[in-house]
Amino acid sequence: MCTLKKPKEKGPQNTTVSFANIGAPFHTFTMNKSFIMAGVIGWPVGHSRSPAIHNHWIHKYELHGTYGLFPVAPPDLEKAIRGLKALGMAGCNITIPHKVSAMQYMDWIDPLAKRMGAINTIVVQPDGALHGFNNDGFGYMQSLYEAQPKWRADAGPIAVLGAGGAARAIVVSLLDAGAKEIRILNRTRSKADALAKELGGIVTSHDWSDRHQALGGCNLLVNTTSLGMHGQEALDIHLDQLPRTALVSDAIYVPLETPLLENARQRGNTTVNGLGMLLHQARPAFHAWFGIMPEVTAELQNTIITTINN
Ligand code: ATR
Repeated sequence: MCTLKKPKEKGPQNTTVSFANIGAPFHTFTMNKSFIMAGVIGWPVGHSRSPAIHNHWIHKYELHGTYGLFPVAPPDLEKAIRGLKALGMAGCNITIPHKVSAMQYMDWIDPLAKRMGAINTIVVQPDGALHGFNNDGFGYMQSLYEAQPKWRADAGPIAVLGAGGAARAIVVSLLDAGAKEIRILNRTRSKADALAKELGGIVTSHDWSDRHQALGGCNLLVNTTSLGMHGQEALDIHLDQLPRTALVSDAIYVPLETPLLENARQRGNTTVNGLGMLLHQARPAFHAWFGIMPEVTAELQNTIITTINN
């Protein structure tokens, strides 16, 4: 659950502020008491599509505010996070590599984010307290239901490739959605073992070399590794054992169709790329900062796809 920070009353315009790198070439805003500021903190962060997403909604809902990019190196993270309150910001997103380390600076962490072991959203409360949330799993589940509204987490085993931060958020959300069996396959077996131990008997860990056989009877295959991402080698996996009724999803969105998704689509599986997860995880954060639960429309999807294709 997100704690709402409602947009403040509109007040007299008094200060002019300029922001670069906010998703549009350059903007100058007139600042007053109702001006709401948020952004994303990461290192590096220049690739982030979050400014394009949030500024699209700010414009669409005719709000008075902006969402910026904040490249913050690890040694400066604490100062940057403490600065949110001092700057009067509504909050921020947290991305790679800060999702775990940012937790220590929170005054309160949502229980779901605690289970995931990471935060991706900070909401500054009216009293200045910093509250941490993780919406990655919400975004992931929404993207699955968007692709196949009747998909059920309890309809069969699920295979998850990878055991990093994205895998943790996805596995916890699949468990909460009712999954009965989740098989984690990771190159470094010890990380899969640790995740399985932490999350209980429904979650099992397996050797990376077993990834082809582990697809037998599965209802969903998820790739959370970086294999298949633009500039990386493709994921090497044989889909022969995977039922053609299974959903195949990839957390990657550059490219939109990874070699895994292309193979799966060609053999008849329904596929889900990482764009839906990216777009939907942004919605609860926008709601918390700007007071409106925004929609993921075809227009927004096309806007972000254009940034990916360019
Ligand atoms: P994220 O937050 O996106 O999940 P991460 O925590 O760095 O990023 O996790 C990356 C995942 O991709 C890990 O599961 C990693 O496997 P290891 O735990 O063995 O490092 C996996 N990964 C990265 N490169 C890989 C490769 N070449 N082959 C197999 N798995 C790989």
